[in-house]
Amino acid sequence: MKNFNAVLRLLFTFIVLPLFTFAQPASKKSEIDKKVETLLKKMTLEEKVGQMNQYNGFWEITGPAPKEGNAKLKYEHLKQGLVGSVLNVKGVENVRKIQEIVVNESRLGIPLLFGFDVIHGHKTLFPIPLAESASWDLQAIEKSARVAAIEASAVGINWTFAPMVDISRDARWGRVMEGAGEDPYLGSKIAVARVKGFQGDDLSANNTIAATVKHMAGYGFAEAGKDYNTVDVGTSTLYNVIFPPFKAAVDNDVKTVMNSFNVLNGIPATANKFLQRDILKSKWNFGGFIVSDWGSGFEMIDHGFSENLAHVAEQSANAGSDMDMESYAYVTHLKSLVESGKVSMAVIDDAVRRILKVKFELGLFDDPYRYCNPENEKNLIYHPDHIAATLDMAKKSIVLLKNEKQLLPLSKNQKKIAVIGALADDKNSPLGNWRVGSDDFSAVSVIEGLKKYTNEFTYAKGADLVLGPVSFIDEVKINNSDTSGFKNAIDAARNSEVVIMVLGEHGFQSGEGRSRANLDLPGVQQQLLEEVYKVNKNIVLVLMNGRPLILNWADKHIPAILETWQLGTQSGNAIAEVLFGDYNPSGKLPMTFPRHLGQLPIYYNYFSTGRPGPKPEVFWSHYTDEVNQPLYPFGYGLSYTEFNYSNLKVDASNSSQIKVSVSVKNNGKYVGEEVAQLYIRDKISSTVRPVKELKGFQKFSLNLGQTKELQFVLTDTELGFYDGEGKFIVENGEFEVMVGTNSEDLLKTTFTKK
Ligand code: BGC
Repeated sequence: MKNFNAVLRLLFTFIVLPLFTFAQPASKKSEIDKKVETLLKKMTLEEKVGQMNQYNGFWEITGPAPKEGNAKLKYEHLKQGLVGSVLNVKGVENVRKIQEIVVNESRLGIPLLFGFDVIHGHKTLFPIPLAESASWDLQAIEKSARVAAIEASAVGINWTFAPMVDISRDARWGRVMEGAGEDPYLGSKIAVARVKGFQGDDLSANNTIAATVKHMAGYGFAEAGKDYNTVDVGTSTLYNVIFPPFKAAVDNDVKTVMNSFNVLNGIPATANKFLQRDILKSKWNFGGFIVSDWGSGFEMIDHGFSENLAHVAEQSANAGSDMDMESYAYVTHLKSLVESGKVSMAVIDDAVRRILKVKFELGLFDDPYRYCNPENEKNLIYHPDHIAATLDMAKKSIVLLKNEKQLLPLSKNQKKIAVIGALADDKNSPLGNWRVGSDDFSAVSVIEGLKKYTNEFTYAKGADLVLGPVSFIDEVKINNSDTSGFKNAIDAARNSEVVIMVLGEHGFQSGEGRSRANLDLPGVQQQLLEEVYKVNKNIVLVLMNGRPLILNWADKHIPAILETWQLGTQSGNAIAEVLFGDYNPSGKLPMTFPRHLGQLPIYYNYFSTGRPGPKPEVFWSHYTDEVNQPLYPFGYGLSYTEFNYSNLKVDASNSSQIKVSVSVKNNGKYVGEEVAQLYIRDKISSTVRPVKELKGFQKFSLNLGQTKELQFVLTDTELGFYDGEGKFIVENGEFEVMVGTNSEDLLKTTFTKK
């Protein structure tokens, strides 16, 4: 049996794999491919393995290299050409020094990739990605990534571990802040916009950087929303919900993909041959390379999948994971695994080719220091254009959830305002999580933003949100008991005409490792809100949070609610402009807001059960103690003005170009922007389809009284779906088409595709 396996492995290595890897005829290979081949021929096995090894940049190498422990080892490895990339090193001086070691002292001088988590800006911080996604503004989102790339490349970084494109339907999962929400269509469009923004048109320019889509795959489907947890999903969800944003990014030439910490249907993603070789590298023809997640290799030992680190290296390399981030598995074991025949030379060559190719494409062989220009570092960080871009993005990300009796916008002459809540005076939390390169406390606070409009307000904190300082690595300690500041806040509210309450989560309450079992306003904030409400009902609730929250009480009682997420550097200015009506909010929720934790996971594109109800008796699909509907549906968001939809028409005479048109009129008192959303339902299909699927949207501005005719075109791309084997199929028959202002408020008609 052992021999049989060995024969199979040999067959795979020398016959099957080369068929995939070397399928391109030599004459068609590009210049870069030729350069890669020439270099590959010069490399020893050890040097090849070195390219597959990534270390954390453990030091700010401005002085002599550290001598202790791993640091010393890493330094020696740099000199020996045993490192292909480092992460978390920034600053042109540091980057240059490390690059110099490799270029000048290693035998072949192959330059390093410098990876970094540039997630929503580098120094100039943009809104957290979930917030940006609420803008549904692909141009602005692309611009945000462009600015992030300009600043990151100015400090020596040439590779970002972004965008995260994990679809998630569970707000308990802390990393929803990092993604584009619950919908694969919107998620795919945003993934492409972000990749384009980072990579630009010319990757070899000195202000574009390689992007990474992560985490392949299923990481956002962690059971019970608990980070790193098991993922078990069927093929329908995998192909139609989880894969699309990855595929869209691959189709748009994303240079790298990161695998994930989770086990997907029994196999850890890092050693998952199906995901990495079969889907990415074969089916999708992905030409870049795959990097593991941080230590996701050695975590396979805890998963009970690998015996030891050597086993980790064997399993991950054979499954197609090209670069090992901080597991030390490849650098320690790959050479001997090749020598013993457990990993083939073809596997190594395939990985190294991919990595070298990206380095050539970035232009690192022409100039390894192309990202090390001190002038750029000085001039481009916090450039006024970047500040303007993030202010624009921040305003576009805000979602108006409620506005009874047009309490908002406030008059610019409004007197007697009370501002309440610790977050109103916070310059750190609104930056959000995942901002490793940024300066702490660099956000414009709400108080600072308001001061540009008025000094006619009294500020009272009410209560601390957190106890003590909070950082990226600490568990956030919430104030659950101290209400000693309530009295001042209540007094301020009693003596005011309008109260602005800034409440929500701390910026470090969402993000990696930050799953929550509750989705309420943390600590004593709900109590504070209710106490203030007793003395003044004229409350504008400004929410700051990194995920959907449960807001039933607020929705029932508070007249005006603004969802502002965490908006980055320009937070307070953006919020003030919206509060005083200089910007009319246009954001739409990219994730459903539940009414109750028990509804999770909750999402708009669910399948109908056989008992959809509602029915007077009990035997239908529902809760006996809560409604099925969310509090705020996907795509929801109000404006200071009002939009009316009418005249939905379909022309299905050409079945490959179904034309849908609708009229939208601005019926309110303000100029405003709207996002019209188009959903379809495939009524009868060979694999059941969701009750609604977003398949188009348009964002546009309307003057007072203006009407716009919108046209949408549905082709097979929008009407088809993936079957259980991952085959894209398009079926004729009846479809519903729905257009409107959110996923519930829709005009509906039907057509038959022939
Ligand atoms: C995260 C990745 C990130 C990596 C490097 C991991 O913990 O899951 O998304 O890119 O760290 O910082």
